[in-house]
Amino acid sequence: MSDQPSQTNSWDAQRYDGLHSFVWKHGADLIEVLAPKAGERILDLGCGTGHLTAQIAAVGADVHGIDRSDAMVDQARGNYPAISFAVGDAREFQHARPFDAVFSNAVLHWIKPPADVARACFRALRSGGRFVVEFGGAGNVGAIADAIRDAMYAMGQPAFHEINPWYYPTIGEYASVLEKQKFGVTFATLFDRPTPLEGGEEGLRNWVKMFGGVFLATIAPARHEEFFRMVEEKARPLLFSNGQWSADYRRIRVVAVKP
Ligand code: BEZ
Repeated sequence: MSDQPSQTNSWDAQRYDGLHSFVWKHGADLIEVLAPKAGERILDLGCGTGHLTAQIAAVGADVHGIDRSDAMVDQARGNYPAISFAVGDAREFQHARPFDAVFSNAVLHWIKPPADVARACFRALRSGGRFVVEFGGAGNVGAIADAIRDAMYAMGQPAFHEINPWYYPTIGEYASVLEKQKFGVTFATLFDRPTPLEGGEEGLRNWVKMFGGVFLATIAPARHEEFFRMVEEKARPLLFSNGQWSADYRRIRVVAVKP
């Protein structure tokens, strides 16, 4: 997980920790919303390489990280040997003892169907336990997605919507997913977070290589350069300035409680 393609668990954990470290660095804000306390039992769902899990552990919480990617979990264990990490699927994990909170940053836009995730989290929480999550919301990476959509079409590749791996709900859609599971939604917001991409001129294509694997996989490697150029040409007026690309992230942040 971390930011994880829904149908695969192959991730480049080093690239994720390097060029794309902004993904977990932004998650520090969400830890303030979680407000973990010493002794609380907390699940970090889609823990990636474990950096946020470690920040939660630092307050004395008993935190456990799960991620669907073996590579991420291996790296998390290497980074933080004292913390418990395991490979697991957000849609069907089970734990013997209930958690006080489930936390998840920048992951749930990769996992469909969202109702399965909500059900597994509801089951994993104690009564009064909280669900604190942030991920891509409605309109997230809209300009990047438009550029990919157009390039796929121009190159005769499968239609974007047929292979789109991302789930970006509105507040209303996601609140209703949670309410169907009997969660009480206590807070929800949708906000823009334009995010500079490292790598200068290469920034957007690096992002597509890391997160757009499902699209690249349909295109012969000899045509990747053509694809990148089309994506860059379409996105440039909106997302490139002063020698730097930025990603037009829009986040949904939600807190819900199990009654
Ligand atoms: C996101 O964090 O919003 C995101 C990351 C990778 C691909 C799509 C969205």
